[in-house]
Amino acid sequence: MNPRKILVTAALPYANGDIHLGHMLEAVQTDIWVRLQRMRGNDCVFVCADDAHGTAIMLSAESRGITPEQLIDEVNAAHQRDFAGFNISFDHFHSTHSPENQAFSESIYTALEANGHIEKRSIKQLFDPEKQLFLADRYIKGVCPKCKAPDQYGDNCESCGSTYSPSELIDPRSTISGAVPVERESEHFFFDLPQFRDMLRAWTRSGALQDAVANKLAEWLDDELQQWDISRDAPYFGFEIPGAPGKFFYVWLDAPIGYMASFKHLCDNSDYDFDTYWKADSDTELYHFIGKDIVNFHTLFWPAMLTSAGYRLPTAVFVHGFLTVDGTKMSKSRGTFINASTYLEYLNPEYLRYYLAAKLSSGVDDLDLNFEDFVARVNSDLVGKVVNIASRCAGFINKGFDGMLADQLNDEALIASMQAASEEIAEHFENRDYSKAIRLIMALADNANQYINDQQPWVVAKAEPGSEKLQQICSTGLNAFRLLICYLKPVIPVMAEKAERFLSIPALTWQDSQTTLLNHKIAAFEPLLTRVEADNITAMVESTRAAYAETATVSEAVAPTLSGEVDSPFEPEIQFDDFAKIDLRIALIADAEHVEGADKLLQLTLDLGLDASGQPIRRNVFSGIKSAYSPEQLRGMLTVMVANLAPRKMKFGMSEGMVLAAGPGKDELWLLEPHAGAQPGMRVT
Ligand code: 2FM
Ligand code: ZN
Repeated sequence: MNPRKILVTAALPYANGDIHLGHMLEAVQTDIWVRLQRMRGNDCVFVCADDAHGTAIMLSAESRGITPEQLIDEVNAAHQRDFAGFNISFDHFHSTHSPENQAFSESIYTALEANGHIEKRSIKQLFDPEKQLFLADRYIKGVCPKCKAPDQYGDNCESCGSTYSPSELIDPRSTISGAVPVERESEHFFFDLPQFRDMLRAWTRSGALQDAVANKLAEWLDDELQQWDISRDAPYFGFEIPGAPGKFFYVWLDAPIGYMASFKHLCDNSDYDFDTYWKADSDTELYHFIGKDIVNFHTLFWPAMLTSAGYRLPTAVFVHGFLTVDGTKMSKSRGTFINASTYLEYLNPEYLRYYLAAKLSSGVDDLDLNFEDFVARVNSDLVGKVVNIASRCAGFINKGFDGMLADQLNDEALIASMQAASEEIAEHFENRDYSKAIRLIMALADNANQYINDQQPWVVAKAEPGSEKLQQICSTGLNAFRLLICYLKPVIPVMAEKAERFLSIPALTWQDSQTTLLNHKIAAFEPLLTRVEADNITAMVESTRAAYAETATVSEAVAPTLSGEVDSPFEPEIQFDDFAKIDLRIALIADAEHVEGADKLLQLTLDLGLDASGQPIRRNVFSGIKSAYSPEQLRGMLTVMVANLAPRKMKFGMSEGMVLAAGPGKDELWLLEPHAGAQPGMRVT
């Protein structure tokens, strides 16, 4: 059979945040699939990029006092480092802010327009008169028009769940400047999605989608299909629309085009041919791996755009669920919103790759990372079952036979049965039923361990040292080990590489599972993987929690943040005695300074009045309020601090307390200030 030509993408992470374990779920799922294809001899290309445009990135750069280009370059490097840390085998990682992406976005848009698929009309939107910026719904807050809950976003109320338009909000405010937004009209460009209803009905039912996804889409395709607003007014960080000065492509228009751009960049630097993969009648395969939150962009807008512009459609879009940690949504305050780089400080990436594989299915269900289960599975499966086979057999071969494997197996049936499973395992991987593949592989590992238990090479070694029988038993064990490694290689590529070195064999391909290793000299055994230590998990969670607390204000730790990652608006109930333990004091901000090298922190010198001997009580506090206040604004201001918080050693020095602020997020907060008359040092009760 000819090798398949396959192009695979993982969703493009936004260029204004860290890669966390939620991203890693998708990256690992995709990477396992890609590695399986390559081991099977297929030509499988894997590309990704940063999703670098949009208002959020523009504002985030502004608040840090850098250009969006500087921000996205910095983030791109960090993202690439994180993915590399987990051995995600991209052929290329690009950026949507690239010449290739601009060229494709312009040419695709021009085609959509020429084909009568773009409509222009004026719409009214809320506008921030101070920032001179149209406000997306999430940048507007006000009182819910239905239940009157304060502090609700422009499109839906988190308190009563109702949805509405931002102009219905009572007392609306721009979350960017605090200004009262005004209604303003401007011309917008719409992609006429309803024209593609029939094509989409056919494509979504063509087998390109999981059933659950196709069913959901059928509901939308039956009624809710609407024109899609693809333009944004300046100022916007993105590509200007050709022939429309001051109008920019909405970030979601050029994001999926980024898949093409990344591949194009690869083509320009390799032998791959762009058209072979993207022309309308291409016989190559194209797969997008995505999370369930971005289904409509990939299964409605994107295929419709591709069709209009004369490109091929995706062969399939593979949708996965979200990652939860210990049964709930990842949470910053609980320390379970774990960054990839933090994970790597404490744990081996192959543990997570294996654990995710052991739990991944082809469905859209969420996957729970349960730490207890994580430790148990990795230790019992990888270390206890797989590595153990090698470590039980290698010593005898190395010591007694100068590293030479026997020229015959002691149990051919065992090895043959393991070889026979190869296609079934490959099929499970191909179908993204990784958990089924892993179950099967571990069942084979159990058989192999049983074999060694039965044969007791350590007894044979005593009774008949140097015997052919001992050599054959251990050679059989090591052949079993080699097969397990071959099957697990897409999941744990680094351990597989170490095993290849120890077995002195070239890189394993899937086909190699049909051969045996006999009359062959192996190298000295090297440790392949150590056990997971639960302490490292505790330390990782602690460090995540601490990093968050360092930059968070008290209010931020308990209120839902902009991205909504904290699940309940309130902390668990406490008793009055608990509250009474918190010593809140009025503090005078005697001094405030920038902290060199800190993006978010200011250093505050707080004055808490005089002690019994008349000496001033001073506290040094690092506070994550730099994005909201300048040192000048703070000096001389009274605020409230937690005065009995245990001092914490931070990167920049000791922090002796915490000041209180309210607000929805780091970039937007207000320090608490007492009424006139309150004096530094007074207790707040
Ligand atoms: O949801 C997200 O994180 C988007 N940045 C994904 C984009 S995927 C593709 F379309 F670019
Ligand atoms: Zn409400």
